[in-house]
Amino acid sequence: MLHGKRVLLIVSGGIAAYKSLDLIRRLRERGAGVRCVLTAGGAHFVTPLSLAALSEDTVFTDLFSLTTESEMGHIRLSREADLLVVAPATADILAKMAHGRADDLATTALLATDKPVLIAPAMNVRMWNHAATQANLRTLESRGVLRVGPVEGDMACGEYGPGRMSEVMEIVAAVESFFADRSPLAGKRALVTSGPTHEPIDPVRYIANRASGKQGHAIAAALARAGAATTLVTGPTHEPDPAGVTVVRIESAAEMLAACKAALPADVAVFAAAVSDWRIAAQAGQKIKKNAGAPPQLSLAENPDILATLAAPGNLRPRLVIGFAAETEKVVENAQAKLKRKRCDWIVANDVSPATGTFGGSDNTVHLVTGKGVEDWPPMSKTDVAARLIERIGMALAERA
Ligand code: CTP
Repeated sequence: MLHGKRVLLIVSGGIAAYKSLDLIRRLRERGAGVRCVLTAGGAHFVTPLSLAALSEDTVFTDLFSLTTESEMGHIRLSREADLLVVAPATADILAKMAHGRADDLATTALLATDKPVLIAPAMNVRMWNHAATQANLRTLESRGVLRVGPVEGDMACGEYGPGRMSEVMEIVAAVESFFADRSPLAGKRALVTSGPTHEPIDPVRYIANRASGKQGHAIAAALARAGAATTLVTGPTHEPDPAGVTVVRIESAAEMLAACKAALPADVAVFAAAVSDWRIAAQAGQKIKKNAGAPPQLSLAENPDILATLAAPGNLRPRLVIGFAAETEKVVENAQAKLKRKRCDWIVANDVSPATGTFGGSDNTVHLVTGKGVEDWPPMSKTDVAARLIERIGMALAERA
């Protein structure tokens, strides 16, 4: 449910801080990555060591720590999260948040972030009911801060009333519903191909192409972030595995086809791999020796077209099939022909002439070719191409539902 999501958990000083230890476990069980910031107050209740052990990550405590600043920087800390969770959120930290104070690492991260924030307040009932706390809360909620709890119950101070931090599973549910609301592709299955294929000549040699896998990997990562259960079938690349994605590594086109078929059914399939069009007709079982006379004559056989195979009408055809067209001339024209020939729904066409630096580079200039027409997208990073494509996929699947 929370695969690939990154939570920055801020633990402030309240007796409920012990529940945050379990919160880390429950969030991680669901696939979220959890990184913790512990306030000085929080450190009176739980130790950085417990948080580090449970989160399996560094725990950040000090705004002016040389290590924190040199390795990470307090701004990056919140930038790298999808959601900030303040649990427990004391009256004091809520007051600081409401007034924009930044006198420690936690409050600085909260002020520096443009990411959504969820608070789980925990405090004495009178502090909760105090007009100052209620005013702070209204300020925070008017700015879009999300809240879970507090609940009514016996308090550590011996009183009874609202102010107890919500139970861990309620906080988990609030985190899950936050991501579900922002996951346009939740419940959908996606398949992505990426990278080059390697077609063996003999056990040590192969033919391949210059694809880096950057675009396909970025698309798989963006699909997973949008909530789709994503399988990435990739040829050999240097790209790291995207978070929350099932990665199937293959070498040849034949293996890619088999892995794609095994990943079906899917609602959407994006074929970003640069599949080798040909393979060696008869792969040598042993390394070909050069002293065998004249250089070997390699005879080629055509590879299966994975996109065309999976786009063909049939029960298992994904509802939305998207191909790529890497062209060096007549980009849109060639892409339109490919769209028809391969019977896919959309083609993302790009110019891969050496001068564009697209192959292996981080940027891409693409045209989205559909049955309805052509959209020219401005030059942008491959990550932005992925994000924009996923937005369009979400809209198209909603229309086709
Ligand atoms: N493709 C595929 N299997 C192949 C060849 C291509 O799935 N054997 C897919 C690519 O992943 C891409 C699309 O088809 O989504 C177009 O790839 P491209 O290399 O541009 O097209 P080709 O069919 O190889 O056409 P040509 O080389 O003639 O331009």
